[in-house]
Amino acid sequence: MRIFLDTANSDEIRTAVASGVLGGVTTNPSILARENQPFADSLQHIAHIIGDNREMLVEVLATETDDMVREARELSALTNNVIIKIPMTPAGIAAAAILKTEGIKTAVTLIFSANQAVLAANAGATYVAPFVGRLDDITSDGVGLVEHIRHMFDIQGVDTQILAASVRSPQSVHDLFSVGCHVITMPASVFHAMYTHPLTTSGLEKFLSDAQNELVIA
Ligand code: E4P
Repeated sequence: MRIFLDTANSDEIRTAVASGVLGGVTTNPSILARENQPFADSLQHIAHIIGDNREMLVEVLATETDDMVREARELSALTNNVIIKIPMTPAGIAAAAILKTEGIKTAVTLIFSANQAVLAANAGATYVAPFVGRLDDITSDGVGLVEHIRHMFDIQGVDTQILAASVRSPQSVHDLFSVGCHVITMPASVFHAMYTHPLTTSGLEKFLSDAQNELVIA
């Protein structure tokens, strides 16, 4: 039930690291482009902030198997906790299978069906990343897909974990963990929203004001 942050923004990552509950960071080319820095600089910076005990997911830009494998080897030399994101294509699945033999961990990304998850698991991917929000956007059931993949992996004894991506609300986080999703990557706004409940806020205010009155009486 691990929490990853879906961002390349160093302030957001620093705050999440300080929370004590961050398991890792996911990036994609669009997320990295938002930071207006060379990708390599951003990645080095993120690696430095998250340290050795959290994972950083970085996507290859190549489209052919050999080029993906070459790029993955270079990226995995950046730090020892990089997971290589590989797009769900025939070339990507072949690359994931090669990288598995080299001990390089992969996350097959852009998963939109259970059969795609089957292919990724057979290639030895560490993670499959279904895009929950993008399915919901087209009135398809993102949480239902994760539940289905989890069921298949369980009855088949598959080690590959499900890392839900494209998550847009605290409700999705709740629903995804409830159906057995292993890891969820989410924007900082969703992560911070997980902390809040109006009864927590009002309850704490009352405790603090009662404590204040007690101090005044004493
Ligand atoms: C993971 O890094 C995915 O690429 C990301 O969650 C996609 O999110 P989006 O559908 O909001 O672009």
